[in-house]
Amino acid sequence: MSGRDADAVSKIVETVARTAPEIRGGLAGRRRKADEENPSGETQLAADVWADELLERRLAAIDGVSQYASEERAEIVECGDSGGYSVAVDPLDGSSNLKSNNSMGTILGVYDAELPAKGRDLVAAAYVLYGPITTMVVAREGEVTEYVIESEDGELAERRAVREDLALPDDPTVYGFGGRVPDWTDRFAAYARDIETELKLRYGGAMIGDVNQVLTYGGVFAYPELESRPEGKLRLQFECNPIAYIVESAGGGSSNGGGSILDADPDGLHDRTPVYVGNAELIERLESMF
Ligand code: AHG
Ligand code: MN
Ligand code: MN
Repeated sequence: MSGRDADAVSKIVETVARTAPEIRGGLAGRRRKADEENPSGETQLAADVWADELLERRLAAIDGVSQYASEERAEIVECGDSGGYSVAVDPLDGSSNLKSNNSMGTILGVYDAELPAKGRDLVAAAYVLYGPITTMVVAREGEVTEYVIESEDGELAERRAVREDLALPDDPTVYGFGGRVPDWTDRFAAYARDIETELKLRYGGAMIGDVNQVLTYGGVFAYPELESRPEGKLRLQFECNPIAYIVESAGGGSSNGGGSILDADPDGLHDRTPVYVGNAELIERLESMF
């Protein structure tokens, strides 16, 4: 599609970085449930709705952004002239961790196509991790960079690169698998039994926190196919495509059980998909067992 420039991508990434301290600062007072459900039928928190509205206001205003969509809203927001980038966000990933004060994140996908789009249409992907410190991992043009987000009085003070050309360590160390064990399919359970004898369990209930462990220590994260939900739980446009893009850019692999997640053809904006990401050989092993 014409009429896009790399500068718009930088502005989109910078806008999410700038909004991160404000989102972090606004969490404490928004732990209550909203009286709405998101398009995936999950109860929303006030923080989910608020972060979504804040990001929509900021991102839709950028020249070169044609569409804004999020897991918190049913419809795509058309933002002016067509031919620009499509921005897909998970405003708060792991929002159920808010009550237990555990890590959460914000996920960003910048697609060079109308939504719903394939992962191969991504030109950039990023996530913010609200952990003991606020960090941001950005994948663009095959390179992955981790930044520390410094803030002052709730405003972005500095985005400092701390890990450049980030790549998964060769020797995997950790794994994190979602869903209830009795609900795992036999073939995933067999894979899990293998992995459990080799790696250490690290599962925190927010994809971003768990994936950041895999990017840091090497290993595998999965929210697998389930007997009760063969399509799994996580959303292709807002969670799995951006994370697959980041992990593959860091030299790892991704799969939906039958090939790279980035090759999955989307039907609807809120499609769910099983997601397996991590060291390439661990993803190859999964696919050999499926
Ligand atoms: P979100 O809060 O954006 O809905 O994401 C929550 C997701 C994902 O972050 C995490 O991996 C998964 O839900 C955890 O699910 P369980 O609570 O079933 O473990
Ligand atoms: Mn999420
Ligand atoms: Mn969310």
